[in-house]
Amino acid sequence: MTSIEKVPEVIRKMFDNIASKYDINNEIISLGMQKGIKEAAVRELTLRDNLQILDLFTGTGDIVQLLLNSNYTLRPVGVDFSPNMLEVARKKMPNTTFILSDAAELPFSNNMFDIITMSFGLRNAYDYKKIISEAYRVLEYNGELMHLDFSGGNSLMAEIFETVEKFIIKKQIQNSSPYEYLLKSKKTFIPPQKLIKEFEAAGFKLKKQKKFLLGIISLQIFEKPKTD
Ligand SMILES: C[S@@+](CC[C@H](N)C(=O)[O-])C[C@H]1O[C@@H](n2cnc3c(N)ncnc32)[C@H](O)[C@@H]1O
Repeated sequence: MTSIEKVPEVIRKMFDNIASKYDINNEIISLGMQKGIKEAAVRELTLRDNLQILDLFTGTGDIVQLLLNSNYTLRPVGVDFSPNMLEVARKKMPNTTFILSDAAELPFSNNMFDIITMSFGLRNAYDYKKIISEAYRVLEYNGELMHLDFSGGNSLMAEIFETVEKFIIKKQIQNSSPYEYLLKSKKTFIPPQKLIKEFEAAGFKLKKQKKFLLGIISLQIFEKPKTD
């Protein structure tokens, strides 16, 4: 991936441009599977009433919506640096707090959240190490962090899925270049085993991991262990 593509302003503008069609295009490209996978990922969290939850890279708020629809009374806050993506989220959930911020510089004090979620975002970030350390800073001790994204790499399944996605993007999506970028970014981001090491280097401990779609998508749940 070239450095141009990781310039924050370029990434932000790209998401601003696709915001109004993001939800419908996501459904089309994933053949309707992405919501179910996000739902299954959220089910892996240790939820209880009144948890303060931060959803980084919230986009149009899918994860926030799933948290609000859970069996618990939760207080999710969504953060994203694309105003247009947040506008879509706010329209869907007018009573929920969505904050415009770069995930690399969070406007929160230390240990503020019980849970942090990130879905399909970290691989688009220009400075993922800084974001992991910011997430560590604002997460409470013993709190959980959920990371969900494509596993990257060149497995046969990933290749087959990508061929189908490319076909759908070409046939169904009008402005296809942002999606071509997104396909490329999932191939070139570091693989889950390396990513786990980055989280561990920041102080997190891996609690569990799960694969979806025969390993095309990976979920990791980390915790921030209490230090004496
Ligand atoms: C592919 S979307 C994922 C949205 C949502 N989490 C989902 O699963 O559908 C990635 C989002 O990350 C946001 N983003 C990328 N880099 C960011 C950064 N450094 N800080 C905040 N948001 C960022 C983009 O604006 C975009 O809305």
